[in-house]
This record gives sequence, C-alpha cells and structure tokens, in this order.
Amino acid sequence: MAKLKLGVLISGRGSNLQALMEACAEATYPAEIVLVISNKADAVGIERAAAAGLPTLVIDHRKYPNRAEFDAEMTAALDAAGVGLVCLAGFMRLLSEEFVSHWHDRMINIHPSLLPAFKGLNVQARAIEAGARFSGCTVHYVRHEMDVGPIIVQAVVPIHADDDADSLAARILAQEHVIYPAAVKWIAEGWVRIEDERTSIDGSTPPMGILSNPSP
Ligand code: GRF
Repeated sequence: MAKLKLGVLISGRGSNLQALMEACAEATYPAEIVLVISNKADAVGIERAAAAGLPTLVIDHRKYPNRAEFDAEMTAALDAAGVGLVCLAGFMRLLSEEFVSHWHDRMINIHPSLLPAFKGLNVQARAIEAGARFSGCTVHYVRHEMDVGPIIVQAVVPIHADDDADSLAARILAQEHVIYPAAVKWIAEGWVRIEDERTSIDGSTPPMGILSNPSP
C-alpha cells in the first residue's frame, strides 16, 4: 500500500520531527516524510532533517507582507510534494483561516498538555502553578481556534511535588515522542474517524486503567 506522505512544519528543536523520522525509518511504518518546512533558517530540526537526506524548505515569514501569503507559499510547497497529512511539530506561527481550511482533517498538532486544559504557551509552568496532579500531551486535528480540534490520543504523566517547568516538560516530551508517531500510524492505516468533532479509533488497543497521583 502507498505510504501516507507527511509534511512536517517546525520552528525549532525538532525532537518530535526526529521521533517521526525514526518511525518512518522502519520499513513497515505506513507513512513517509516528503517535506520539512521551517519558518526559521537556524532551526535545529531543519539541520536534523537535511542531515537525514529529507527534502527541507525554509520559508521565512518575515519576507511575506502578510500571514495569508506566507501560508499560501507553504500550501503550494506541501501540495507540490503531494503531502496528505501536515504534522505541526513545534511550529510557532498562527495559521490563517485559508490554510486551516485547505488542510481540514489533514493537519494534526502535538501540544504539551491534556487539552482542553492549558491551551497556549508556558503550559507546563501553568499546570504546576495550578496544582494539577497530572499533565501530559495531546495529538489533535487542527481547527481555526488555537489548540482546539478533535483529539486523537493523549498520554498522561504525573506532576511530582518537586517538579519545575523543565522537569515536567522533559517527562511530557518523552511521551510526545511515543504518541505522535502512533497517531500518524493510526491515521495512515485508516483507523481514525472524525464524527461531530470527536474521533474514534478502530483497531486500537483498549484504554488504560484508572490513574491516581498520589497513589491511594
Ligand atoms: C513540543 O513540546 C510540542 O508539544 C510543542 O512544541 C514543542 C516542540 O518541541 N507544540 P520539538 O521542536 O518537537 O522538540
């Protein structure tokens, strides 16, 4: 079966891109990365992708008069590469309505909180500040509103009493690297259905049991 063609959008470190690259390196994985786009020339992730021989493109948003034209350039490149699924992976630009509409149900994002809690930025610090006992990460389809859209998968991590934002972010990031390739795999294999803005995943393993932190 033909592999699902991925376009990955990044702005920085690219550790989630790396996780997707490693998954795609497996012969049986049902997706392949056909284009990596960064809006920043110095993004570490773009170096990682180029070093691995992947097609990369820097589209510097500062060279475009407005968001719509920047986004149109990205869509043109993604379409030209035959992309079937756009994966946002630490892409730090807001997206225009046109872009989000064009990629409706064909664009996913990874976010380091258990959505719908803690949308936006600095979410690890905010979860600690709020006294939450758990946080985690979410892979979801992208809609016009930021960090909103049908949820595909979430992973939960405990928040420890001595956590700071960095230690929590690292614990969450390790799970991001697990669930992002998993979500892409399920989509590529046709397991994920969206109905009334909720997803169902056929063929998936049963959900985990009850989590408690601290343990009773
Ligand atoms: C991750 O925490 C991701 O959840 C968020 O941005 C960060 C990107 O990290 N959207 P990396 O560039 O993939 O290492």
